[in-house]
Amino acid sequence: MSGDREDILDNYQEIRKIDVQGMLEIVEDFPNQCIQAVEIAKGTDFSGVSGPFSCLLVQGVGGSGVSGDLVKALVEEALEVPFLVNKRYGTPGFVGESTLVFAVSYSGNTEETLIPLRDILFRGAELICLTSGGQLAAFARQNGKVLIELPGGLQPRAAIGYLFLPLLLSLGELGIFKIEEADLEESLEVLSDMAEALAFRTPARDNQAKKLAALLWGKLPIAYGSEGISGAAALRWKCQFNENSKIPSFWNSFPELNHNETVGWELLKDITRRFALVLLQDKKGRVRNAQRMEITKELVKKQFGLVTAVKARGESPLAQLLSLIYLGDVTSVYLAILNEVDPTPVERIRALKENLARLG
Ligand code: PA5
Repeated sequence: MSGDREDILDNYQEIRKIDVQGMLEIVEDFPNQCIQAVEIAKGTDFSGVSGPFSCLLVQGVGGSGVSGDLVKALVEEALEVPFLVNKRYGTPGFVGESTLVFAVSYSGNTEETLIPLRDILFRGAELICLTSGGQLAAFARQNGKVLIELPGGLQPRAAIGYLFLPLLLSLGELGIFKIEEADLEESLEVLSDMAEALAFRTPARDNQAKKLAALLWGKLPIAYGSEGISGAAALRWKCQFNENSKIPSFWNSFPELNHNETVGWELLKDITRRFALVLLQDKKGRVRNAQRMEITKELVKKQFGLVTAVKARGESPLAQLLSLIYLGDVTSVYLAILNEVDPTPVERIRALKENLARLG
C-alpha cells in the first residue's frame, strides 16, 4: 500500500467523506456501549421466568444471531444442558416446555426470527426477547414475555454490546451461568484501555487496528480461531469484513479445519496469494489447539500473501472475547475506509429483504 493511502486513516476529514454515517465513532464507542449494556441487563426483571430448563436456544440471524454464537462460546462447556443457536425458519423437534428460547433481533422485524415464535410458544417453551422494537417487541408485550429493550438507531452489527451482554448476563440472573463481577470489571477495563490505542486520533504507526487494516487492504481475509472464544471471534471478524469492509472473507476454527480445509491450501496459489490468514489467539485455551495453529501456519504460510496473528487481551475469557471483537470491528471499519466504501449501508441485505417482502 502506498504511504499516501494509509495516511487517510489519520485524516478525520477524509474518513468522514467515506464513513458518511459515522460507523467509526460507533465502533470506537464499544466500551461505553458495553457499560450501558450491563446496566440494561441489571435493570431487567426476570422474576417471571422460572426453570429449570433442559435446553437453551437462541433464535436469531446475522448481526443479532452472532450474539448467540459468542455467548455459546463462553458458556457451553460449563453448562449441564445443551445451548443451541438456531439460524433458520425451522424449530428443532426437542423444543418444548422445558426449553428457554431467546429471540434476538435488533430491528425486531426479521422474519426468520419471528416466524418460529408462535410455534415455540405453542409448544410451551419459555421466551425472552431482545430487540430495539419492531414486531418482536410487540410480540413480547402481547404475550407477556420478558422484553429486554435495547437502544435503537444502530446497525444490528454495531449494537453487538447491547445484544451480547444482556443475553450473557441474563443467564446469571436466571441462575444458569454466572459471570463473576471481577471478570466483568476486568473486561470493561481491558476495553477502556484499548479505546485510546485504537481510536482515530492515535496515528497509524501506533494503532494496531489501522496497521492491520493497511496490511489486509487488497487481500481476502481468512480468520482462524480455536474452539471456544477465538473461534467465535473469527466468525465475527469474517462477518464484519463482509458487512463493513464489503469484501469476501471466510472463517474456520481449530481443530476441525485441520481435517479438511488445511488440505485445500495446496493449489490455486495464483488466487490464494491475495488471501491473508489472520490467526486469532486466545490465552488459556487448549494447548493442543495452539500447537495445531503453529503447525498449520508453517504448513500453509507459503500459500498466502500475508499471515498475521492477533492476541486476545485480558485474562478472563470474557475480556479476551470482547478484546478480539473490539479489535476486529475497528479494523473492519478502517479497512472500509481504505476501500473507499461507506461501512454503514448493507445494500444487499436491504434489497434481499425488500425482494422477499414483495413476494409476500
Ligand atoms: O448486520 C446486519 O445488518 C444483518 O446481519 C442483520 O443483523 C440481519 O439481517 C438480521 O436483522 P436483525 O439483526 O435486525 O434481526
